[in-house]
Amino acid sequence: MADLSVKNLLGIADLTSDDIHLILETADTFKEVINRPIKKVPSLRDITIANLFFENSTRTRLSFELAEKRLSADVVNFSASSSSVNKGETLIDTVNNILSMKVDMVVMRHPHPGAGVFLSRNVNSVFVNAGDGTHEHPTQALLDAYSMREKYGDLSGKRVVIIGDIVHSRVALSNIYCLQKLGAEVAVCGPSTLLPVHIDALGVKVFNVLEDALSWCDIANMLRIQMERQDQSLFPSLREYAMRFGLTQEKLDALNKEITIMHPGPINRGVEITSEVADGPHSIILPQVENGVAVRMAVLYLLASQINR
Ligand code: CP
Repeated sequence: MADLSVKNLLGIADLTSDDIHLILETADTFKEVINRPIKKVPSLRDITIANLFFENSTRTRLSFELAEKRLSADVVNFSASSSSVNKGETLIDTVNNILSMKVDMVVMRHPHPGAGVFLSRNVNSVFVNAGDGTHEHPTQALLDAYSMREKYGDLSGKRVVIIGDIVHSRVALSNIYCLQKLGAEVAVCGPSTLLPVHIDALGVKVFNVLEDALSWCDIANMLRIQMERQDQSLFPSLREYAMRFGLTQEKLDALNKEITIMHPGPINRGVEITSEVADGPHSIILPQVENGVAVRMAVLYLLASQINR
């Protein structure tokens, strides 16, 4: 099997399109594995992985842990809220102490953009970024691409719009890089206050009217308003936001085509998307979560194959 061009997965920006295709094709194999009655392979036996979560997570944390266990890795979980970080220990000291217990790989979620890059330059291990602040969430973009590819096959020329709080979103940036490397056309849509200035420099189309974006796209990826990352009000009210940018069945019915609906989760039902749409026939929100395990198995397997044992 070919190797990835990277030793760590810090962001999609570092991957080649060949790397992305290799991860998605490897995930096909693991998706078949996790649908067997015995959902486990010995691929990472004798590899120990630490999951370091300095920020809340449901999907990513459990998905990585399941992926690791289904590859037969030994797993330790670290939650910042119950750790000695609260006694003032630095990130480098924390990780070096964990690594001295013969840990081979580190999966880390951290609120600060660039935390994974910083660690990879200062600590000797293999790192997977499970989301770093507003920067990147590479495995989310890979599982999103996998889920789109599962539905459409080749993504060349497919039109994907990412809608909502783009300025605070690591999912948006990783998706833009990933989809463009796979040949898709990408757009963003939201109120101007939730779009980064110069976002068009990334080669994306920009919409400020939801209905225009929906008319243009094949796939709509809805994002949550990240209130926890906002220290000022960037729109008048959630009610007004939901009226202008919330995805409802009425807005979908007004299109003379079907589009696929995605969301990385967690969902704020009734704000960026109604329950009727989130749970409707064109939503692939739960398949995205299911695919996350296979995609993360592929990432861990490919990175671990470069560890000298
Ligand atoms: N999509 C995602 O990253 O969800 P969690 O924050 O629950 O991990």
